[in-house]
Amino acid sequence: MANTNNNTIKFFSGEQIPVELHKVRIVQKLFLKPIDERMKAMEDAGYNTFLLNTKDIFLDMLTDSGTNAMSDNQVASMLQADDAYSGSQSFYRMEKALQDVFGLHYVLPVHQGRAAENIISQVFIKEGDVIPMNYHFTTTKEHMELNGGTVLEIYTDEALKIKSSVPFKGNIDIEKLKDVFVKYGKEKVPFVRMEASTNLIGGQPFSMQNMRDVKKIADENETMVLLDASLIGENAYFIKKREAGFQNASIKDILLEMCSYADLVYFSSRKVSSTRGGGILTNSNDLYMKMRDLLVLFEGFLTYGGMSVREIEAMAVGIIETCDDTIINQSPLFIEYAVNSLDSAGIPVITPSGALGCHIDAMGFLPHIPQSDYPAGALAAALFIISGIRGMERGTVSSVRDKDGNDILADVELLRLAFPRRVFTLSQTMFMLDRVKWLYENRDLVGGLKWVEEPPLLRFFMGRLAPSTDWPQKLIAKFKEDFGDSL
Ligand code: F0G
Repeated sequence: MANTNNNTIKFFSGEQIPVELHKVRIVQKLFLKPIDERMKAMEDAGYNTFLLNTKDIFLDMLTDSGTNAMSDNQVASMLQADDAYSGSQSFYRMEKALQDVFGLHYVLPVHQGRAAENIISQVFIKEGDVIPMNYHFTTTKEHMELNGGTVLEIYTDEALKIKSSVPFKGNIDIEKLKDVFVKYGKEKVPFVRMEASTNLIGGQPFSMQNMRDVKKIADENETMVLLDASLIGENAYFIKKREAGFQNASIKDILLEMCSYADLVYFSSRKVSSTRGGGILTNSNDLYMKMRDLLVLFEGFLTYGGMSVREIEAMAVGIIETCDDTIINQSPLFIEYAVNSLDSAGIPVITPSGALGCHIDAMGFLPHIPQSDYPAGALAAALFIISGIRGMERGTVSSVRDKDGNDILADVELLRLAFPRRVFTLSQTMFMLDRVKWLYENRDLVGGLKWVEEPPLLRFFMGRLAPSTDWPQKLIAKFKEDFGDSL
């Protein structure tokens, strides 16, 4: 039978091209400003792409958070929103959809993912606890540490290798997990955290087998499993694609099995269901009751949790759509196309391709820049100047300083170019690939960055930097030589 459920339609040429199984009916105009204006915008933003203004950006590949395209059905659902402080029908529709998709009964809505992290950390973490996990996420770690916990990353040896063919680099190392319980004792471990499509190490998934093993060890030690499901749809897609025994399983069945091993599931809806918001789910009345009062205190009443009813309706539809292969495939297939193109041009990029975006290895791209001069930040700035494409630094700028004020150098120094779901076209993707390749040819012209203003908490969001030499001017001169008046 012909497979109508796959966006990789075979071309006569034999090429593998990801074809969009949607049409674009609402569009937003974009501008590509001249290079001198892009340079001025970068200076005004303190060489921090978070501080750019979208009027100056051509392709916004900063994140997929809150930027996925909504479907017609999501937008239509927003019209039936039921405005009510409590008891809104919109909430009950969303609750039912989340119960169906995640298979867990109690639903606590929150305004976004980090709000769930705040509540979970406050309720379950006490001073001196340790939290083993496949890898941290920035806001997760801050919340856990604010509540006295220490994050233990127990990834496998392969996880941080840039070039690899291991399909599940997001796995927890099960032997290291056993050692954590031996070393610290189970009473110090409130839960083990699994992050789907591990964000900071290149959107790398974990396998179902790994999740089963984690659950078994957690049960033996009478502790909980916490699943960060912000990118769970993509992780399920990779299980279906890469793990033996799942080829014929539906995304929905895979999601249900993944969640069945978790005591608590939380998510950023900005990613998983293409709308603002988030949530926490559990099957345990006891756990629900422990979190309920904090929800009302920090987020809002139990039936809106800081979200607008329109977003709640869109979440109900969006979470069901996450189970549709053609919707969940789209971003990983574009990422795979882009990663393969960069990899075959010899550009260091995380392989195998994962979720969320292309992750370029800035230390491999710019080996002449010491890590203390922030090569990933410099690469993000250089790419914006030469293309109007905004990526995100995911390296030492996104890290913190130790007690003595020294930078904690990041394990991996990445420039992330995110592919929000169903937003960019293939020609825009090809433009990005072309400009990254030009930059790679001219990489010697790029220099480092230094701090001008460095906030103590989550410095990457608001901090300002400057180039350590006049390298941007040299890069612009070469760009003009090669491209003339062209943008
Ligand atoms: N967990 C993961 C795995 C995330 O990727 C994020 C956000 C959060 C939690 C926090 O959710 O933003 O709704 O509060 N990631 C965004 C990103 C910010 O760009 O990768 P939030």
